[in-house]
Amino acid sequence: MDDYIEEEDLNTRFSGATVTRILAQVAPHWKMVVGFLALVVMITISDSIFTYFGKQLVDDAIIPQNPDALRSILTNYALLSIVSAAIVFGFIYITALLGEKVRYDLRRKLFTHLQRLSFSYFDKTPVGWIMSRVTSDTERIADLVTWGLLDITWGVTSLIVAAVFMLSINWQLAILVMLTIPVLIAVAVYFRRLILIQFREVRRINSRITGAYNENIQGVRVTKSLAREELDLRDFQGLTGLMFDASYRANVLSALFLPAVQIISAVGVALVIWYGGILALQGMTTVGQIQAFIGYVTFMIWPVQEMARVFAQMQQSIASGERVFSLLDAVPSVQDKPDSLETARLDGDILFDDVTFYYEKDKPVLDNFNLRVRPGETIALVGPTGGGKSTIVNMLCRFYEPKEGRVMFGDHDYTDLTQHAIQSRIGMVLQTPHLFSGTIRDNLRYGRLDATDDELVDAARLAGAHDFIVTLENGYDEQVGEGGSKLSVGQKQLISLARAILADPDIFIMDEATSSVDTLTEALIQRGMEAMMEGRTSFVIAHRLSTIRRASRILVIEAGKIAEMGTHAELIRAGGHYYNLYTRQFRREREVALGI
Ligand SMILES: Nc1ncnc2c1ncn2[C@@H]1O[C@H](COP(=O)(O)OP(=O)(O)OP(=O)(O)O)[C@@H](O)[C@H]1O
Ligand SMILES: [Mg+2]
Repeated sequence: MDDYIEEEDLNTRFSGATVTRILAQVAPHWKMVVGFLALVVMITISDSIFTYFGKQLVDDAIIPQNPDALRSILTNYALLSIVSAAIVFGFIYITALLGEKVRYDLRRKLFTHLQRLSFSYFDKTPVGWIMSRVTSDTERIADLVTWGLLDITWGVTSLIVAAVFMLSINWQLAILVMLTIPVLIAVAVYFRRLILIQFREVRRINSRITGAYNENIQGVRVTKSLAREELDLRDFQGLTGLMFDASYRANVLSALFLPAVQIISAVGVALVIWYGGILALQGMTTVGQIQAFIGYVTFMIWPVQEMARVFAQMQQSIASGERVFSLLDAVPSVQDKPDSLETARLDGDILFDDVTFYYEKDKPVLDNFNLRVRPGETIALVGPTGGGKSTIVNMLCRFYEPKEGRVMFGDHDYTDLTQHAIQSRIGMVLQTPHLFSGTIRDNLRYGRLDATDDELVDAARLAGAHDFIVTLENGYDEQVGEGGSKLSVGQKQLISLARAILADPDIFIMDEATSSVDTLTEALIQRGMEAMMEGRTSFVIAHRLSTIRRASRILVIEAGKIAEMGTHAELIRAGGHYYNLYTRQFRREREVALGI
């Protein structure tokens, strides 16, 4: 939603700095730019010569009845045609290639930068916003510095060259014709702008329609179950009606554009016929000259048209530039200090020292949170939803840093270590595990690229993933689909677990899956987790009784504080929060286990 609203900012200032920065995108490829600009200048000169041939044909060959002149004009015409075809090939080829290079450079820069940005950036920024930066905005920038630049160069040189030819043929007539050019440009730019505004409206409504489709397809079950079809259909029809009106206006304007430009150019031709005619009647000009002039006037329509298009779109491209550069200029909120340490291992001695944290100011999530963890402990985090459990483990990974207080690994405040030192030593399995498109083997290796096949299979066995992997058609070489979509949630968790085991981290974090896992898979995950937690400092956001019972300590997290802490037996005895949680939440589980 956010990104079409931005599309509307029609009156982006003409920011010189942004234009310069956009143009700077081609700086590394300046030889190509010089190349295609030179070719464009050559093509305009050659076009003007073609028109001049017409004048020669009439004045030098046909009227004087001179076959020699006819032959030489023909030869020149043929030669110039070949040269001109080669030039056209050259500049289209170079421009397209340059466009690819600019697009590639920008996307690579954006991709690298996105990898560096911290979690907090992605909290604030919708994925759709980022995607449109990477796709349509880079596209527009590449277009402006290639085809846009080409069209403007072509337009300007065409006008200059045509002016030179006309002035050299007959200066009075030339000046008269050139008076129509500013009018032509003004009308063309004006129309182009109107058309652009209408098309922008069309796009805006279109993205609302796409959004509506998306929501409705994704939520089709909900819609049906609540019998909302009727209402949704009415909303949808309203949108398509708006779309029709906007498209209609856009099309009428588009249809009017060319006739408007042609009328002005017809005025130019009429001036040539009228004044040229007067001159001709006085014997002051020739038929060929008048014909050449008419040729130049009609010839000027195209470059002016194209220039108008580029100018009208320029604002949009500048807005695209500003958006892309704002993404490139975003500073990661978590940054390594210049003298950060890159330690090889973390010993699992962890201290949360008076940590206070919020995602949004005035809404504290962790409030003076204190916790000391000794190496090898398994800490189970339980508590109501929104209590801050995920926040604690995110903080531990330094995806976010404390606003106040500190997190210590051994003797080090963790901001003195590099993010890589911390994150490469922590293995994490998320509640909604993510796999990358590719094979199972690729996904397992993701955490440790140099793992051998044997190590890979060992890790999968330990995680309990091996057995299901070998039943797949291609075993370890099975493609998992985008985001692992071809596998079930349970299977994805088993693979994430194997991936974490293979990476052999010092600290293990697991956000347990609560549902959508059958009992067999659940037992497998349980076994894999136990293998993983063996002798490793672990944090488990636990929903399963069996995990919680095994934990060295259970923390009940409520409103960003430790409401209670102890072993299962201790907390049950205490009869407090945990006892209530346990009796409410886990009674059912126990009943199922006992077959009641
Ligand atoms: N990225 C975020 N931006 C803003 N607020 C957030 C963000 N993530 C979490 N919060 C808020 O912080 C609080 C703690 O969230 P957290 O995800 O840590 O809870 P949780 O204990 O893991 O809950 P659950 O059991 O539902 O997973 C919640 O009020 C939540 O709305
Ligand atoms: Mg959570």
